[in-house]
Amino acid sequence: MFSNLPLFPEQASTIAKDIDLLFAFILIVALFFSVLIATLVVSFAIRYRRRSDDDVPEDVHGLLALEITWSLIPFGIAMVMFVWGASIFMSLSRPPDNALDVYVVGKQWMWKLQHMEGRQEINELHVPVGQPVKLTLTSEDVIHSFYVPAFRIKMDAVPGRYTYTWFEATKPGTYHLFCAEYCGTQHSGMIGWVHVMERAQYQTWLAQGGMETTALAPAAAGEKLFAGMGCATCHRQASGALGPALAGLAGKSVELEGGRNVVADEGYLRESILDPRAKIVAGYRPVMPTFQGLVSEEQLLQLIQYIKRLGSADQDAGSAIAPEAEVVE
Ligand code: CUA
Repeated sequence: MFSNLPLFPEQASTIAKDIDLLFAFILIVALFFSVLIATLVVSFAIRYRRRSDDDVPEDVHGLLALEITWSLIPFGIAMVMFVWGASIFMSLSRPPDNALDVYVVGKQWMWKLQHMEGRQEINELHVPVGQPVKLTLTSEDVIHSFYVPAFRIKMDAVPGRYTYTWFEATKPGTYHLFCAEYCGTQHSGMIGWVHVMERAQYQTWLAQGGMETTALAPAAAGEKLFAGMGCATCHRQASGALGPALAGLAGKSVELEGGRNVVADEGYLRESILDPRAKIVAGYRPVMPTFQGLVSEEQLLQLIQYIKRLGSADQDAGSAIAPEAEVVE
């Protein structure tokens, strides 16, 4: 619709058209009323100007029908904008279940991207066309914002917590990636590219690896960390263990001391590693030390991926890693 106008970026995601339509609607409504009001102000000023010194206008005591009209019409228009905007917001904040997971860490001044199969990238993101991609974002230092105009997505990467967004690219190509939150002297240089590839091409790319490839998928690296840091000493599948067992935990509801329940999502797992005393599981004592400062954002992701892969309670930790998460060359 706007592809010939350089003002508007290319529409390269499933949501782009919806957002542009809503934007155009709001713009047209705003323009219409701006022009209408400006015209009326000027023409009334001329038409009803004071023509002589003893010119006294007639008193006006309100007109109910007029007042109801000019209240109801803007209300209706505002509600259209609200409902329309809210429905787009809802679909933007709920990634489809079949979405590909990509983990994004912002730091001064680069984007680090981690694919669940093991490939890592810096300032470049390769994704397949026609496939929803869910981004889990965080930051190592200050607030950054992950912005891809062609996809019409922008999400803050906030230190100390996870944020989420998703997109589905509709055509192969290379699209600009920006940091949209001022984050220091090199903010304007914190840019990169999103490469949208055909599925087969993407599979080849994923399997190839390159200089930037790590040897292990996050879940497998997390398993090593888990063992290396001695987590299993307390978190084991046995009665009398000091910490709760972790198999089958991810995504479940957990009962805390005091009777409150929380869902064990990424945010909860992250908090429980960095600030173990914030939420104590019912029946356990606050004995776990903090790992704040001991694990990097990448390692946190690895541990969380490992815990998520720990399936049901009858699997033991060693066999829980799915085959596709094994070593990627
Ligand atoms: Cu990172 Cu601006």
